[in-house]
Amino acid sequence: MTVLCGFLLLAKASGSEPQLSEGGQIYTKACAACHGPDGKGTAKAIAGFDQPNTFPDFSRCDQTTSEVNSAYAAVITYGGPYRGFSQIMPSFGKALTPKEINELVHYLRSFCTNSHWPRGELNLPRAVQTEKAYPEDEEVITAAVNARNAPGVENHIIHEQRFGMKNQLEVDVPLMFTHPEQNWYGGIGDVTIGWKRVLYSSLPKGSIFAVQGEVSAPTGNYNHGLGAGTTSFGVFGMYDQLFPTNTFFQLQGGAALPVDTTKAPQNVYGYATFGQTFAGDHGFGRAWSPMVEFLANRDLVNSAKTDWDLLPQMQVTLSKRQHVRGDIGVRVPVTDTAHRPIQIEFYLLWDWADGKLTEGW
Ligand code: HEC
Repeated sequence: MTVLCGFLLLAKASGSEPQLSEGGQIYTKACAACHGPDGKGTAKAIAGFDQPNTFPDFSRCDQTTSEVNSAYAAVITYGGPYRGFSQIMPSFGKALTPKEINELVHYLRSFCTNSHWPRGELNLPRAVQTEKAYPEDEEVITAAVNARNAPGVENHIIHEQRFGMKNQLEVDVPLMFTHPEQNWYGGIGDVTIGWKRVLYSSLPKGSIFAVQGEVSAPTGNYNHGLGAGTTSFGVFGMYDQLFPTNTFFQLQGGAALPVDTTKAPQNVYGYATFGQTFAGDHGFGRAWSPMVEFLANRDLVNSAKTDWDLLPQMQVTLSKRQHVRGDIGVRVPVTDTAHRPIQIEFYLLWDWADGKLTEGW
């Protein structure tokens, strides 16, 4: 390590390449020995260390575009362990100014030459109900517990897997527990499989738009109220907007279209989430995102009214790498309050593209 640092200092003192940007010049001197001139990483024999499984190849857009600039800047400033990475990645916060580190991050971005990949900054904090537009690699476990009216618990195990630049598969397995009379009754609900596709994304504008189609199979027991008793199709759009202040909103609107409308009504809905992310340590540390969701649902039957709910909540990053997060909120009906429960809702999510569940703490 000492030898390597000496080499880096020597390299830093030698001449500069005029054709490179400032970030490029620093990279060549201070980073290329390990990360390679092309950003792909240097062979073990030269770099002298075993590459961790999370070692980045900066030319791989599929691996790097989901990472946010502030995460890169944090690792460069404080070193690998700051985000639960290997200590082989040194800290440069004393050697380089914040401006130089920004230039470096900018230079790292130039290794991915396809600008059509949606950028990770547009991966806004996940709300409890509103689906976000960004395609994810994620496992989520959610729970909604009735805090009023008949006791009931609804869990969802959600698997989200990204395919290529703009697509994502989603599988949602609900587990429901109801307490209609004397006893609890539990079981699997209606399993949903969905496909999301990003149609537009722009980091400079802070916007991303995606659509999703899905189908729910009647796997839940209809007689016990665990399922709709009919196959149902769903279609919705998602539009998310991030502002430079880390304020954001997320919109989702769509319809649920059961095949047998005698069993379940057709339904349209519109969700809106407003939130703000605060992160400690100059934006590098633990991120807290207070959000509030406005949820509107309406069954397409005669004389139906729109059900409105409010869902204030707080999401927080749990792991240093910020790939494990939790969220807790309260869903409060605003209309028809006598018949609909107040629910405590929470989830845990693990962004598995960022590392194993046990890594990054
Ligand atoms: C001594 C070798 C070494 C040097 C020098 C080095 N790095 Fe690293 N860097 C690593 C290793 C190893 C990792 C991977 C750590 C892990 O995955 O656990 C890493 C990880 C990173 C990451 C995190 C990527 C991610 O997936 O989040 C960034 C960003 C980074 N380096 C940028 C730089 C920059 C910029 C420089 C130059 C200023 C630099 N590194 C210099 C070895 C080095």
